[in-house]
Amino acid sequence: MKRTLGVCYYPEHWPEDIWADDAARMVAAGISWVRIGEFAWSRIEPKPDQFDFDWLDRAIDTLGAAGLKVILGTPTATPPRWMLDKHPDMLAVDAEGRPRGFGSRRHYCFSHQGYRAESKRITAILADRYGKDPHIAAWQTDNEYACHDTTRSYSFAATQGFQQWLAQKYQSPDALNRAWGNVFWSMEYDDFADIDLPNLTVTEPNHPHVLDFYRYSSDMVADFNREQVAEIRERSTAPIIHNYMGRETSFDHFKVGADLDIASWDSYPIGFLSDRLEGDPDFKARFMRQGHPDNQAFHHDLYRAVGRAGGNPSPAGGRWWIMEQQPGPVNWAPYNPAPLPGMARLWAWEAFAHGAETVCYFRWRQAPFAQEQMHAGLLRPDSADAPALAECLQVAREIEDMPDVGTAKADVALVFDYESAWAWEAQPQGADFDQFRLAFAAYRACRRLGLNVDIVPPNATDLSDYKFALAPGIMALSAPLKKALGTTLSLIGPRTDTKTEHISIPTPMGPNVDGLDVTVTLTESIPPQASIPLENGGQFVHWREVLEGGATVRLRTADGIPAIAGDTVRYLAGWPDDSTWETILRDLCDEIGLTHHTLPDGLRLRDTDTHRFVFNYAPEPLTWNSTEIPAAGVHWEAL
Ligand code: GAL
Repeated sequence: MKRTLGVCYYPEHWPEDIWADDAARMVAAGISWVRIGEFAWSRIEPKPDQFDFDWLDRAIDTLGAAGLKVILGTPTATPPRWMLDKHPDMLAVDAEGRPRGFGSRRHYCFSHQGYRAESKRITAILADRYGKDPHIAAWQTDNEYACHDTTRSYSFAATQGFQQWLAQKYQSPDALNRAWGNVFWSMEYDDFADIDLPNLTVTEPNHPHVLDFYRYSSDMVADFNREQVAEIRERSTAPIIHNYMGRETSFDHFKVGADLDIASWDSYPIGFLSDRLEGDPDFKARFMRQGHPDNQAFHHDLYRAVGRAGGNPSPAGGRWWIMEQQPGPVNWAPYNPAPLPGMARLWAWEAFAHGAETVCYFRWRQAPFAQEQMHAGLLRPDSADAPALAECLQVAREIEDMPDVGTAKADVALVFDYESAWAWEAQPQGADFDQFRLAFAAYRACRRLGLNVDIVPPNATDLSDYKFALAPGIMALSAPLKKALGTTLSLIGPRTDTKTEHISIPTPMGPNVDGLDVTVTLTESIPPQASIPLENGGQFVHWREVLEGGATVRLRTADGIPAIAGDTVRYLAGWPDDSTWETILRDLCDEIGLTHHTLPDGLRLRDTDTHRFVFNYAPEPLTWNSTEIPAAGVHWEAL
């Protein structure tokens, strides 16, 4: 498959007489896809039921005539102001009970049935008009579900929806009371209609109440998306995509992905390093113009798995894209440095090496007005080339010369589970316990060892082709996953299989995995700057557990308590710091004879079916196998 490039474009922001020139310049830059329309509702339907499609028809024709394939977005992330007159109670409500008002975007509540009907209506109208248009080659539903913390709404509509959802799930208030343990603090209910959302309580609400509300909220995102998909599918055969975000765990992406053809995500490496990732200030300064060397790869591997939820049978994962690729400084992070020259190329190649079909840069031209005027594009506001444009062209030329590199199956499987993220959010027990953070720590260690990783969903049933599997922090392992973990060498924990699905402590206490004779009898969270030393010189940070049982002990804490125990499935009783993760996984590789590497700081590898890619994230040149790779450089060699 030939990889392709795209760009995000807002014809409604620019005078019509420059559209044709823009389109020609896109094509000259090697771009073949253009995404439009996702925020254009006020121009498509300026007043309720009064439509203006002429400009959009002409925009699509102009772009299509230039040879570009159009991805048309449904505009539901930005309902126009008149929508509020029609549905005054459609706004999402924050956890403090305040409505999230008009004047930016994503001001809707997923539970509001009136807005849901509007979303279906506008999707159907667009799909009616453009479903058979030869230029429309893909659809995007909405834009970045969850962005700006919008999955969970504490509205009246959500309260009603949640009560119905609970009634369906538990059938009787008694069953719910038992499952949640509501005898504690006299929290028992007689009627589903009495159950409020778990905000505005005096002290912490009951964890299963919170967890069920998070499940419900996630289901609303999936339902909202599914409704749009149904409208489009009736009228178009073009593939349907959603653009997910980085480090966003508030809804189950595997469930949303199951209804879509292609997963995509919006990659802002420099923004994420500043805004969304842990890391000490020296590390952040070193990588401030490149982004975290592992964060993009983690999400590429995650969203490849989400793409696979859409039904692609390929063992290495499904269809996925980058829908928005950072081209220069963004506007929204605490600090917004410019990328090193070369990074707009490196990020694109890294995505291709992880299996992306298409990388679209965000955005074509920097807007001189409104919220994102300080956000770079491929063009400056005055239409001159911005630095990333030449890199885009370079990638386009390189793609021409590149054979199909394929997506290799990885040696390592890493289980990622959104429900566990919600569980630990509801019940952190230690301020640093965060599911993404834990999974990412394990992933980083694999990357520093030069290993390819496939991220797999918690309903994975076959892991036997992997050399080893990791399942950190998975609240409750399903029976099929337990079985699958037993078919390869697996390292589970900390905190894995230690809860029921209602986030209570099981009897017998976990983990309850056949062939693994350990029980977690005590847990403790560890404050920053403190740690639990291990006999191998490493340490546990954030979290440690005390194990009992007869399993073979593989590693102990310095004071002799089992830290890793088991045979085929092993339990890791703590959160290793970065170098300890690396030591543990290197020892595992050595034990099973899996090749690993010692990489200079900032160098990363990715093997495809045919090539080894080497990415230099460092701000200085580094050497790989006697080849010097410049700062922000990419090198590939045939395998
Ligand atoms: C994304 C969003 C875009 C734009 C971009 C700026 O989160 O989908 O619409 O806001 O960020 O970096």
